[in-house]
Amino acid sequence: MKLSGNTILITGGTSGIGFEMAKQFLKLGNKVIITGRNEQKLQSAKAQLSGLIALQCDAGNYDDVAKLQPKIQNDYPDLNILINNAGIMRKVNLQKHNHSAAELTCELDINVKGPIWMVDTFLPLLTKNTKLKKNIDVAIVNVSSGLAFVPLPISPVYCATKAALHFYTLALREQLRNTDIKVFELAPPATKTELLGTFSNEDMKGTSMMSVEDLVGAFLNGLANNKYEMAPGQASQLKFMSRFFPNFILKQLSKNIDAMHAS
Ligand SMILES: NC(=O)c1ccc[n+]([C@@H]2O[C@H](COP(=O)([O-])OP(=O)(O)OC[C@H]3O[C@@H](n4cnc5c(N)ncnc54)[C@H](OP(=O)(O)O)[C@@H]3O)[C@@H](O)[C@H]2O)c1
Repeated sequence: MKLSGNTILITGGTSGIGFEMAKQFLKLGNKVIITGRNEQKLQSAKAQLSGLIALQCDAGNYDDVAKLQPKIQNDYPDLNILINNAGIMRKVNLQKHNHSAAELTCELDINVKGPIWMVDTFLPLLTKNTKLKKNIDVAIVNVSSGLAFVPLPISPVYCATKAALHFYTLALREQLRNTDIKVFELAPPATKTELLGTFSNEDMKGTSMMSVEDLVGAFLNGLANNKYEMAPGQASQLKFMSRFFPNFILKQLSKNIDAMHAS
């Protein structure tokens, strides 16, 4: 993939991985549009990154996603890369019945339904744009997680969503094989962002954290080399272990369960 001259839409670009992607893509000479729910965070991102376009859109709300499409089609008709990055992660104690039904499954709306709706909504425009310019590739990137391969049991719903997104991405890539749309998956390892803000040192014991700059650097390198599945750092170890030593790695990731029950 060429890393300059693209028009890129990143869901959830006001902080963490999405923000760093926006920063690095802008530096490389791309048009970058980010989305997020919080208007203040969108304004702050715009103030920090010159040229950034920031639009309010909740990826977990179908009406918002549907409204975003005509706006992008009118104002940025040459969109050629969609990055489904928006996501949330929570600790959930399944033995405590202190959550509403909607609360219990909210990660499904944002982490799974969001990307599926975004792909469905933007596929016609992306397909049209495969014929736009000869040297510009069209791509969809889904941001899953190393936890798509083996669950961290204190975040059961999150891990289920990332495994679902991983399988959806594999299927999408095969379904689009007869098109000129490339389908990438970025499965990050634990990365220093706000996502893990509510997790304690005990929760993250034994996990080495990647900096967001290194993670996005590895992502851009993978994109440039058409590496369709990217699992940087510890994420590749999780994938390997889940295949060859599944019980051992699940036990390792289950060590903080007792601390959760005690809290
Ligand atoms: N950090 C890690 O260790 C790690 C590891 C593996 C995978 N990931 C994945 O990487 C992606 C980015 O995470 P991050 O670590 O960068 O998290 P982050 O720093 O918390 O950033 C998440 C971004 O998504 C936005 N967002 C959340 N819900 C949204 C929604 N419904 N609609 C639109 N935007 C939404 C947030 O803005 P608003 O709140 O204003 O909407 C924010 O801009 C996620 O999919 C996450 O699962 C992260």
